[in-house]
Amino acid sequence: MQKWFPGSWRSKDAAQLVTYPSEAELARAVAELKAFPPLVTSWEIEALKTQLAEAARGERFLLQGGDCAERFDECTGDHIASKLKILLQMSVILVDGGRKPVIRVGRIAGQFAKPRSEDTETRDGVTLPSYRGEMVNKPGFTPEERNPDPRLMVNAYQRAALTLNFIRALVKGGFADLHHPENWDLAFARHSELSEEYHAIAQRVTGSLHFMEAILGVSAVEMKWVDFFTSHEALHLYYEEAQTRQVPRRTEWYNLSTHFPWVGMRTLDRGGAHVEYFRGISNPIALKIGPSLKPEVLSELLDTLHPANEPGRLTLIHRFGSRKIADCLPPLIETVRKSGKTVLWCCDPMHGNTQMTPDGTKTRHFDDIQSELNSAFAIHRDCGGFLGGVHIELTGEDVTECLGGARNLVPADLKRAYKSEVDPRLNYEQALEIAMLIARMMRA
Ligand code: PEP
Ligand code: CO
Repeated sequence: MQKWFPGSWRSKDAAQLVTYPSEAELARAVAELKAFPPLVTSWEIEALKTQLAEAARGERFLLQGGDCAERFDECTGDHIASKLKILLQMSVILVDGGRKPVIRVGRIAGQFAKPRSEDTETRDGVTLPSYRGEMVNKPGFTPEERNPDPRLMVNAYQRAALTLNFIRALVKGGFADLHHPENWDLAFARHSELSEEYHAIAQRVTGSLHFMEAILGVSAVEMKWVDFFTSHEALHLYYEEAQTRQVPRRTEWYNLSTHFPWVGMRTLDRGGAHVEYFRGISNPIALKIGPSLKPEVLSELLDTLHPANEPGRLTLIHRFGSRKIADCLPPLIETVRKSGKTVLWCCDPMHGNTQMTPDGTKTRHFDDIQSELNSAFAIHRDCGGFLGGVHIELTGEDVTECLGGARNLVPADLKRAYKSEVDPRLNYEQALEIAMLIARMMRA
């Protein structure tokens, strides 16, 4: 195998690679990114790896969630706080359901690049490059907006830094403290029935916390900011390479733009650039795996990306769709078992369940999401293991992008508040509801 270095991926085939009009401008943007300080630190990354190792042993549960793609204009205090709030509320529900600590990881502070199935998009006879996330180009349908601009990587880094700065300040100030779930209430949701059920759960959790603390005489919650971690799809390798560093007194390399990068399904080519890049970084990593992944390919990926079986290193996020999971998952569980390696199994019930309404709107049905989760819990149990986490596209806002749920949204509702430029997200109530259902599945 050739020697690894942060740019060794450049000699491999890179799926989804962006071609910029000017090499010189690209090089300038990358040089600027290289000079910026890291967004996260190696000790935070190692702390998450330890927690993920515990989750792989069944001692914790992973909750990973957020937007399909972050937007620059949503880098505001309100948007960031509501994303944090919904994830914190869901984590309380899961703590109550699973009786174990929950690792909270946002798809946040870097989720700005998107893989696309088509390189171009045609509207009314006009063909332009596809929208690839705000790190690459803009969603508007004009040549100016769709042309890739390397400066957007620098802007994305800056948005990520602003986002993380606010999250750190909130968490350090006690916002994420389980003793005070009232901090996480969302104004518009006060009168929702689900919100009432959530409050009963939150009170129960806070009550048990006080009880434990009274008995043990210690504080059960360490209010450290590391209670909340970041993740994104490390798709845009120019950005990721520029933030890949060695730190003093360690020999390993880390991607210091996020705690927990993942490889998307479309870039999981064993001989490709993304696998080459991920091979050399010491972060805990995740792979999104779908119906096309053959067991023998998974086995090679385990050799390349998880060679030392290091605890916490590898999470497999499966996303088969509610109709395919029963056929696709068991052979892959068997492959991992035969390899003798430990992974954390996580279910993304969103990406295999995307459908189009008759008028061409991308949506997902709540029932399919629930059904895939149900199957995931059952299949892992039947195969002698367990599901250790969930990965969900959601928002803390009152959007109408997914069908079904407690308010039974129908296709005609989607127009009302469809904001995503990419995949449809669960809205606030649907996210709470799915958390309650997952809690029930964890108890079963
Ligand atoms: C995503 O997570 O937004 C995504 C594109 O997922 P996948 O790689 O699983 O299709
Ligand atoms: Co998505």
